[in-house]
Amino acid sequence: MPTQPQHIAVIMDGNGRWATSRGLKRSEGHREGTETIDRLLDHLLKIKIPYVSLYAFSTENWRRPKAEITAIFNLLNEFIVKKLEKMVANGVRIVTSGDLSRLPRKSRDLLADAMQRTAKGKKLTANFCLNYGARDELHRAAAAWATTSAGKSLKVPTEKQFKKLLWQPNLPEIDLLVRTAGEQRLSNFMLYQAAYAELWFTEKTWPEFSAADVDAAVAEFMRRKRKFGGL
Ligand code: FPP
Repeated sequence: MPTQPQHIAVIMDGNGRWATSRGLKRSEGHREGTETIDRLLDHLLKIKIPYVSLYAFSTENWRRPKAEITAIFNLLNEFIVKKLEKMVANGVRIVTSGDLSRLPRKSRDLLADAMQRTAKGKKLTANFCLNYGARDELHRAAAAWATTSAGKSLKVPTEKQFKKLLWQPNLPEIDLLVRTAGEQRLSNFMLYQAAYAELWFTEKTWPEFSAADVDAAVAEFMRRKRKFGGL
């Protein structure tokens, strides 16, 4: 009997296209995308998938216009303020990946509070990837490895040793990686953790992504045969 994925990663793409095709501002697409995150968490709780990683803001997204960056972080703040009680009640645990020091002060404070308030959540770990880039994560891990071996000649780390230096070492590997809006790229997301992930793509934009799409991706995952390099 194939097992359900334990860890789903999502590249939430197409907010801008969803908005502009409706004559709306791009930030309206991000707002709608935030509602999709809320619905996704509810559905993952319902179908008992315990880990999700969400690519919310990449190290490259700083190249966007300042107004759009501000709008995204304001939506993150609003999301935390509005949904924290519900997440605590539902057993959601919030963690993050990425260097938060570059985020606006208010977002950092709200995230710190949210992580503390949800720390005991047992049902679903939601990993918000913010100012996240896989290369940045790996460069930092390499530097940390070099630091731990200071003075000694560097050994090649084992997978177990190296994983400890990543942002969220205790999350299981990604089983299923979903990207919306018709693009089929990894865009610097979780390059280490997704080494054996099954990939699933949909033409739907992120605001259009529904519980039925999660079910379709999970059903497809369960039909696939995973070999991890074996036969
Ligand atoms: C991709 O769409 C989406 C993003 C870069 C940002 C995702 C952000 C949110 C869903 C809102 C933030 C809220 C929380 C709770 C983290 P795009 O803008 O790249 O779309 P496009 O490719 O159509 O332009």
